[in-house]
Amino acid sequence: MNPNVQSTRQATAADTTQTGVAAADARAADAGAPAELASTILLNVNGIEVIYNHVILVLKGVSLCVPEGRIVALLGANGAGKTTTLRAVSNLLRAERGEVTKGSIDYRGERIDRMTPADLVKRGVVQVMEGRHCFAHLTIEENLLTGAYTRKVSRGEISASLDKVYQYFPRLKQRRGSQAGYTSGGEQQMAAIGRALMASPNMILLDEPSMGLAPQIVEEIFEIVRDLNQREGVSFLLAEQNTNIALRYADYGYILENGRVMMDGEASSLAENEDVKEFYLGVSSGERKNFRDTKFYRRRKRWLA
Ligand SMILES: Nc1ncnc2c1ncn2[C@@H]1O[C@H](COP(=O)(O)OP(=O)(O)OP(=O)(O)O)[C@@H](O)[C@H]1O
Ligand SMILES: [Mg+2]
Repeated sequence: MNPNVQSTRQATAADTTQTGVAAADARAADAGAPAELASTILLNVNGIEVIYNHVILVLKGVSLCVPEGRIVALLGANGAGKTTTLRAVSNLLRAERGEVTKGSIDYRGERIDRMTPADLVKRGVVQVMEGRHCFAHLTIEENLLTGAYTRKVSRGEISASLDKVYQYFPRLKQRRGSQAGYTSGGEQQMAAIGRALMASPNMILLDEPSMGLAPQIVEEIFEIVRDLNQREGVSFLLAEQNTNIALRYADYGYILENGRVMMDGEASSLAENEDVKEFYLGVSSGERKNFRDTKFYRRRKRWLA
């Protein structure tokens, strides 16, 4: 860890023993969040352990929080546990034979870890799953409309939501009558986010929006995420392997390794942190690595984990 970066912290044992909103507040304050933000923690994940199939321990005491109105990034390599964390929050774990076996999850101070995904959608928490998951045989507009089915609202309100989605995603308006299966990966990702918007969310759990997309499209999607955050006040918990882009758009980040939070901090501090640069951004201040450096890198990485 770079000692010059005050607001970037590496995990300590104490992190997993703090409990409740107080701990979340402490973390937000620790993160340098303004006092009013620190007191409005939307989501508080507190020391959760997740086991798949009764035996595979994947998350080993993960704690994080999302203050209202912020974009928080959950970073880490392939298999670190990002999707599992999002599934634990949105209660989609059971479908994967997974279970939260320790810890707790609160949303606006209310325990949500025993709720159904539908209860969560009613409270304004919606997940956009990894891999987009559009209904290929439905049109883009029909896909969007499926996002509103849990809302008991008038046709007028649904059509207003649709207009709003088209305002943020003009590409979707152009493609509204096309079968989703014949649209591009970027358009399908936009449709997946648009469908979440149709549920009128306060918080979107967005899993790997950049996956398999060209850099220009990824940038376009992240710009829209920022717009939704700033203009609609939607908070985001965003899982990304693409550390570079996530840190440019997020306010705060958590780095997961092997089911543990290894480091967290303001996005700008993480982006400047030497270890993050080296391990996740592929930038090193030194010369190009030879084999010996790589061995050292692995040793340091183990030490960090
Ligand atoms: N349904 C499942 N049953 C058993 N193990 C699983 C299941 N889903 C995920 N895992 C395991 O849990 C670990 C974390 O997986 P997870 O999908 O949460 O990682 P991730 O950080 O989202 O990775 P990626 O960046 O590749 O999406 C991996 O070792 C994975 O093999
Ligand atoms: Mg994943």
